Amino acid sequence: MQTAAEGLRLSGKKIGLVPTMGYLHEGHLSLVDEVKKRSDVVVMSVYVNPTQFAQGEDLDKYPRDLSRDEKNAAERGVNYLFVPSDREMYPEEHLSFIELNKVSHILEGEFRPTHFKGVATVVAKLLNIVKPAVALFGQKDAQQAFIIRKMVRDLNFDVEIVVAPIVREEDGLALSSRNVYLSQYQRKQANVLYRSLKLAESNLSKGETSLEKVRSAMVRLISSESEGKIDYVSFVEPATFCKIEEAGSLAEILALLAVRFGQTRLIDNMLLKVRQRTQ
Ligand code: PAF
Repeated sequence: MQTAAEGLRLSGKKIGLVPTMGYLHEGHLSLVDEVKKRSDVVVMSVYVNPTQFAQGEDLDKYPRDLSRDEKNAAERGVNYLFVPSDREMYPEEHLSFIELNKVSHILEGEFRPTHFKGVATVVAKLLNIVKPAVALFGQKDAQQAFIIRKMVRDLNFDVEIVVAPIVREEDGLALSSRNVYLSQYQRKQANVLYRSLKLAESNLSKGETSLEKVRSAMVRLISSESEGKIDYVSFVEPATFCKIEEAGSLAEILALLAVRFGQTRLIDNMLLKVRQRTQ
């Protein structure tokens, strides 16, 4: 991959990279559409990265279907599918990891303490292998996208990071490879994440500024209309990813949540406008 990418760069091609863990759905393929607008050659990586899964998480049962991925990626316009092995990515003597302070340890990081260390490390490796001009990530993993942007800036990677909007099912459920774990019953209830975000949007647009009140309304909705167990419902300032409790003078806030349906953990988020008070 490194040699192929170097050849492409030398012949003047602008490379776009879409890193994935495979089991492609429309969310991934929409990233291909976006990257095609910004590059000459599209590289997609398919790699279920073991270092971002903790002991007891779903690494072994994470859904995989490489032949379907190959077909879908090619049909959508991916030029190179990079499918490295664990041995190639993490040879026995691999000792180096990238860890971001603060932002890696809140929200998802509280529930998955080693997750973002694995994500940052593998993304850094993929960027170094492919050296793309542009790389695409989904807003569905908002904290991941923030961390990657921050890492790229902090460590001077020469790449443009683009974050593409969440793709949703008709009922609002955000597309995720993990949705296949849901039973029919859980699947029906799972759009409560989206509905709770829309409720927050509506409350903020009516002038509510107490995020504690917005959170309580979301929690009530989730608890009364589903059997989902909430890990967190939180609000951050989009530019800094710092947690906030008051909408205050911010024009927009990012609401994020994680809810478990049985063994399946779903995350979602939405950028919400705050109604500005006129004097
Ligand atoms: O979002 C994902 O699928 C993964 O976290 C990523 C960015 C491909 C790194 O393994």
